Amino acid sequence: MSGPRPGGVEAPAAHARRRVPERLDVRPLDRFRSFKVKLGILVGVSVTVAALLTQVSIRAGIEPLLSLPLVVIAALVSTQLLARGMTSPLRQMTAAAQAMARGDYSGPVRATSRDEVGQLAEAFSVMAAELEQTDRTRRDLVANVSHELRTPVAGLRAQLENLVDGVTEPDPAALEVALTETERLSQLVDHLLDLSRLDAGVIHLDLEEVELTPFLHEVVDAAALAAGGRDVRWIVDVDPPDLSVAADAARLHQVIHNLLENAARHSPAGGRIHISASRTGEDDGVRIDVDDEGPGIAREDRDRVFERFQRGGAADSSGGTGLGLAIARWAVGLHGGTIEVLDDPRSTGAQEGRSSLIRVVIPDPGPVA
Ligand SMILES: Nc1ncnc2c1ncn2[C@@H]1O[C@H](COP(=O)(O)OP(=O)(O)OP(=O)(O)O)[C@@H](O)[C@H]1O
Ligand SMILES: [Mg+2]
Repeated sequence: MSGPRPGGVEAPAAHARRRVPERLDVRPLDRFRSFKVKLGILVGVSVTVAALLTQVSIRAGIEPLLSLPLVVIAALVSTQLLARGMTSPLRQMTAAAQAMARGDYSGPVRATSRDEVGQLAEAFSVMAAELEQTDRTRRDLVANVSHELRTPVAGLRAQLENLVDGVTEPDPAALEVALTETERLSQLVDHLLDLSRLDAGVIHLDLEEVELTPFLHEVVDAAALAAGGRDVRWIVDVDPPDLSVAADAARLHQVIHNLLENAARHSPAGGRIHISASRTGEDDGVRIDVDDEGPGIAREDRDRVFERFQRGGAADSSGGTGLGLAIARWAVGLHGGTIEVLDDPRSTGAQEGRSSLIRVVIPDPGPVA
């Protein structure tokens, strides 16, 4: 059989490094799931080989002094053949762990057996992949944060220099520019604080029964204020009107606010932003949909936009940090819920696979009858 056996783990590079041809790479004990059983078989086979050879040499009249080394060598060879691959994953894991300590996560761990060593190698490979991912995320985060902080700081500095040098008059318009950059900075810092709390896992949910009609109107008011004079129309539709959900109101506010802010930012002038809430089809939770009349999110970006610092192709120049949806996904996840971009045939860009419809589902068993 070629390729890894069930339960086996094999990095692609392992094939290239293999010194034994596939045809000769026989591992007779791989099928056994227990290391102890393998050891038992090894002992049994080598003792049997030794006993048989001793018998044969006695019958052939060979001197015990001559036959003993031969018997020992034969027992060792049979053990070696049977034990092929039993401990190599352990050696590979040692080498891979040493490489990981140096920041190199590429070391392959090849295990074809299904026993405890094979399972350990499999867990090791999963752990190595996760560590690599975490390490990459950390590096990206530091690089992105530095970059994101530099942009508003540079803008602010340039504006202040112009003011100090007398190039720009200190009129309200010039101060407005400085204020906008400062707001960007403080928004970024707020987001980063949220993310660091997220990573530290220190946020606890303060669950309460949130009545959605007044709640959504409140979020709309806050988002309309944040959207400044942007010309959009907000439509809130809660079915039934007294619908409520068990959630952390502050976190849910943050989620919906982020969605409304995005919707307002991407809406055309005079566009409608539709916010609707109802119980899910399966009646196991509450869904809140936010939809706008903007260009929407491309199908290939639907997962990516929920990652930190990721902006879709339609990123606007008004200065989003690319953190809003990542934080929203985390806050929804804290509730055990989901957030995703759904297909929406009514979306402006539906023909090209784009959609503006984002659905949040918060699990809620509903009022006990
Ligand atoms: N309603 C929408 N219509 C079109 N594109 C959207 C919409 N919502 C989000 N996006 C895309 O998803 C990207 C990620 O959104 P997210 O809210 O995470 O970041 P942001 O709005 O750019 O910045 P931030 O929310 O941190 O200020 C946006 O940059 C945008 O390209
Ligand atoms: Mg946003």
